[in-house]
Amino acid sequence: MDFKAHFNLSEQILYVNTPGNGLIPKETLAWRRNWDETFFDIHSDLRDKQADFLSEVKASISSLFNTNSENTFLTPNFSFGYNTLIDRLPSDFDFLVLADEYPSLQYPLINRRLSFQEVPVSINVEERLLQAIETQRPDVFVFSIVQYISGLKIDLGFIQQLKRKFPEMWIIADATQYLGTEPFDIKASGIDALACSGYKWLLSGFGNGFITLSDGLADFLNLRLKDIPRPKAAMWQTKSLLGTFFEPGHQDTLAHGTLQQSLKFLERLGLEEIDAQLEEVRNEAYELLGERDLLLEICKRANRSSLINIQIDPALYPNLLQSGVKCFPRGTGIRIGLHLYNDKEDVHRLIEIIESLR
Ligand SMILES: Cc1ncc(COP(=O)(O)O)c(C=O)c1O
Repeated sequence: MDFKAHFNLSEQILYVNTPGNGLIPKETLAWRRNWDETFFDIHSDLRDKQADFLSEVKASISSLFNTNSENTFLTPNFSFGYNTLIDRLPSDFDFLVLADEYPSLQYPLINRRLSFQEVPVSINVEERLLQAIETQRPDVFVFSIVQYISGLKIDLGFIQQLKRKFPEMWIIADATQYLGTEPFDIKASGIDALACSGYKWLLSGFGNGFITLSDGLADFLNLRLKDIPRPKAAMWQTKSLLGTFFEPGHQDTLAHGTLQQSLKFLERLGLEEIDAQLEEVRNEAYELLGERDLLLEICKRANRSSLINIQIDPALYPNLLQSGVKCFPRGTGIRIGLHLYNDKEDVHRLIEIIESLR
């Protein structure tokens, strides 16, 4: 399927930097322009309908990823939702995390002086996680579904098994490098809190994201907060107590509306179709890069993501940019991402450029 037509692309640019930030569909961009004009028109009543509008954004999140709207909160990014959540958890909780995680996932544990153990990222990471959980019995396991440097994608079937085996352990997931690449049912995932920024694989620009909680975790948090007096002001009468933490002030309808438009776009195109296209393009990339010995060891896993760390010297980054390749140096190589606006031709072009530089 030709998804390229939905984006403003350029012959000069090979855009493979979705792990940094994703492109925005033309339709979403048109909506943004129109919304800003209409929203601030003096005759408009959109400014008086912000709460209803934001509820509809949550309904769109629920519709695409199956979440409970009541336990879903709109946030400016992943980090705000995640930081707000861990501040509501008991301070004596033990966390388990993966080593080399995205800094805004691990550092909030360090700066709050919370107790955590690390499991190194390896080809058999799920086995090692299981061993660590069996021996250390952490209260919380936190992980990014797709790791931002290596592209390692945690087996989502394993997460469901973990929840069945350790129902008392809270599972917190960062879905920023994952959501938007394939169909995903959050309620069925075994994840208790999933937080995400919208500007990468969800194609939604900056300033939007969300966090959604399982009923179990929402109940646990509400119980901990039960002695807090409810807000008395009329304008906050319908706000939930969790909402006073996760959505403490006015929100930007332009940013969250952009998320909604892109979610609708993904829904219209179909996440199954997107997944099928990504798999085809990904397979081509893994094959051609593998033949040239340019992949990390973890790429031998059956479970592969659309984020690939190509093992060429990161010092080649300026040369790649010069050749029009939008990518980023990360870890021991150059990180790329293949999303719906990429095709096999892009992969071939990238390989040619890499060959010319080596
Ligand atoms: C794994 C992962 N999580 C989260 C984020 C983004 O978080 P935030 O938008 O809160 O900075 C990134 C961005 O690079 C990421 O790679």
